[in-house]
This record gives sequence, C-alpha cells and structure tokens, in this order.
Amino acid sequence: MRHPQMIKTNKFPQVPGPIGIFDSGYGGLTILRQIRSLMPQYDYLYLGDNARAPYGTRSFDIVYEFTLQAVRYLFEQGCHLVILGCNTASAKALRSIQQNDLPQMDSQRRVLGVIRPTVEVVGSISQSRHVGIMATSGTVRSTTYELEIAKLHPDIKVTGEACPMWVPLVENDEYDNPGADYFVKKNIDSLFRRDPEIDSVILGCTHYPLLLNKIRQYMPAGVHVIEQGRYVAESLQDYLRRHPEMAARITTGGNATFLTTERAEEFQQKAATFMGEPLTAERVYLG
Ligand code: DGL
Repeated sequence: MRHPQMIKTNKFPQVPGPIGIFDSGYGGLTILRQIRSLMPQYDYLYLGDNARAPYGTRSFDIVYEFTLQAVRYLFEQGCHLVILGCNTASAKALRSIQQNDLPQMDSQRRVLGVIRPTVEVVGSISQSRHVGIMATSGTVRSTTYELEIAKLHPDIKVTGEACPMWVPLVENDEYDNPGADYFVKKNIDSLFRRDPEIDSVILGCTHYPLLLNKIRQYMPAGVHVIEQGRYVAESLQDYLRRHPEMAARITTGGNATFLTTERAEEFQQKAATFMGEPLTAERVYLG
C-alpha cells in the first residue's frame, strides 16, 4: 500500500518512467485504452480518484486542488508526462497547472489535456458549422470548449449541454440498462431543441463512450458523434514525434499499472469493463 506523502518535495525521480493518465474515476480508462492501442510499446500508470469522484459538479477550486495533487503524485511515481484523461480537470485545472505550477514543480515535465486535441478535429468534421458539446456541468459552465473552438474555428457556433446524470449512470453500471434511456434521450432532445442545425456532437466527457449505444440510438440521423479517445491518442503520438526528448524519458515495457483512491477490488471489477480485459489495482492516498 502506498502511503500519503507527508512532506511536499519538488524532487521527482529523474530516470525514465511511465506515461501518467489521470481521471476522477473510470472515464480516463477510455482514453488510456485508445492511447495504449496506438502506442503499446510504452508503460502507463493510471490513477483514478474514485474516492472523490465525480468531479463534474465540483467548484473550480476543488477540481484544481484535487487535480494538482494527482499530478504531483504521478510525478513522484516517476512520470515525466501526465495526460489529464478528464474533460472536467482539463477544463478547470490544466491551464493553471501548466502556467503556474509546472514552472515551480519541474519545468521539464509536461501535463496535457483532452480538450485541445478534440477541438482541433471538429473544424474538419462539421459542415453546418453548428456543433454540440455534451459534458459534465463543470465542463459546460467553464465554457472552455467554446473558448478553444472560437480560437481555432471562429465560424463555428457551439451549444453546450450539461448531462449531470450520465456519469453516475456509468459509475453505477447502469449504462446498458433501460433507466439510462430516459436521461440520454432527455439531454439529446434538449440539445437539438436549442440548436436544430447541429451536425456534430462532441462527447466531452471520458465516461460517455460507455453510453455510445444509447447515444447513437437517440441522436438524429446523420449527426457525427465525436469520441475523443482516438484524437487524443493521435495527438499524443504526434506530440511524442515532435518531442523526442520527452519520448526518451518514457519507459518501454508495454505495462499498464492501475492506482485508485478507493477500494482496489471494486476498481478492478469495474475498470475491467472499460478496458475490456482483467486487471489488478492498488489503493493510494492523495493530498
Ligand atoms: N470523466 C470526467 C470528464 O471527462 C468526468 C467525470 C466526473 O464528473 O468526475 O469530464
């Protein structure tokens, strides 16, 4: 069992380490799965803050504080590169961590998010230039998607729809059950009532791919559903090609290790569904 770090230090291991992937819970596993299938050679260290999930309804300050603790923990475990496999953390904490914390913690380490790679592709997908974002309340309220899309594709009109019940449906294993239909349909109908011209919808939460069957069922015909995992993986591959100095600091054993802040047994069971294969996890303490 890994114990809490009582003394904060900025001295992180300098030897190569795994790529760190962080999410509030299980959602980031959909990102890890795609990254790992594209780059199976690397080692990965996944951290889910399941004890404090969901983040989607939490304030900016709390999401930032929890995410920073997780990043620091992953650095302490030897990661030089950490991916926030969580839109809520990417929306609410990434910029502050990159601009304010990284220079003090270790300017050679990097933290990347999932929103930018998703925003980059939407310009070549949408024809109508009307795009919908389905995400947690926190991500929608942050308006990060709107701001990022405005920078790259100023002609696109963005409508955000908060889907506060979708993460609990996934976290509680209800995503394939009839109860999920009500909430999936409700939010999709609401989004298209607000802008019927939307032709592309970004699933802006890493939990949502598990609801994909139901999302496709209720989505109007012809609408592109943009799952971000693939684009995040391709963007990371491109980043590592452009930054060989970072690639050289990642170990290449093909292993994935899983850490959770909740009970390991429960994590193992549910995470296996996300990963599509059995796995073992270890409980850790953040803060
Ligand atoms: N998976 C996270 C995301 O992509 C949200 C889950 C949560 O609310 O904690 O936004």
